[in-house]
Amino acid sequence: MKVAVLGAAGGIGQALSLLLKTQLPAGSELSLYDVAPVVPGVAVDLSHIPTAVKVAGYGADNLNDALAGADIVLIPAGMPRKPGMDRADLFNVNAGIIKTLAEGIVANCPKALVGIITNPVNGTVPIVAEVFKKAGTYDAGRVFGVTTLDVIRSEAFVAELKGLDVSKVKVPVIGGHSGTTILPLLSQVEGVEFTDEEVASLTHRIQNAGTEVVEAKAGGGSATLSMGAAAARFCMSLVKGLQGEEVIDYAYVEGDGSDAPFFAQPVRLGVNGVSEILPYGKLSAFEEKAKNDMLPTLKKDIQEGIDFING
Ligand code: LMR
Repeated sequence: MKVAVLGAAGGIGQALSLLLKTQLPAGSELSLYDVAPVVPGVAVDLSHIPTAVKVAGYGADNLNDALAGADIVLIPAGMPRKPGMDRADLFNVNAGIIKTLAEGIVANCPKALVGIITNPVNGTVPIVAEVFKKAGTYDAGRVFGVTTLDVIRSEAFVAELKGLDVSKVKVPVIGGHSGTTILPLLSQVEGVEFTDEEVASLTHRIQNAGTEVVEAKAGGGSATLSMGAAAARFCMSLVKGLQGEEVIDYAYVEGDGSDAPFFAQPVRLGVNGVSEILPYGKLSAFEEKAKNDMLPTLKKDIQEGIDFING
């Protein structure tokens, strides 16, 4: 199993790489790429952790070597937002970075499963899909926007509010990864009842949790540690799928388009990535309205990504 992390020297990249060094199956290879000159040092640093995962660092000129033969590519590269910015404000600066990296994947590991973390995820995932389509290598089942951070936040906040064992709390989150496009399905949390006020305030907190971190870091960036943990958890779902285990997880993928061309929803993972897109079940009246209200924003974000490549 070769896993490449593109943007491995950044805040998310380092946290993610540390977790993968300790969690990937023995015999795996962790390939760290970054334009920042510190990346070989990050690789050396991680290589001193005694696990059977081989680590190699690749600098700006070595994207091809970093990606050659990768089974999974995770992309946290790009700029984070600062207080007062929306994720959409990052589009201009991050779109070009994502395009270049997607072209590298086409050239070096077109069959890899690709997990995109770079914001705005609602638009960067369509950029990758369009680059792959142009190259004739697109397989919708292999391209994922990583929305696991919304899921783990929801688990943490629900457990905190209700005094539950967080390891047993499961919260489906659908839609996209920005503001109101993030829709936790609190009506589907098993064994937990919420008042209408709790649903409204929890939904709002989950939708604004990224901003909560951005403001708390006061200009020092956005979530890195929780995002690293989320991406590592999603990566391990991909790994298990590749190893032939049946796994169900949530991710932002291109589906049947009934809500929007890309939509975060439950997917069954297997040896080729998504083996089945699963229904997200019955929504409460609150969730149905929230979903319908956010679709124009989500569709606009997606179109911006498509137009960046084709416009
Ligand atoms: C998050 O949800 O924390 C990330 O998408 C980063 C951000 O800008 O909020």
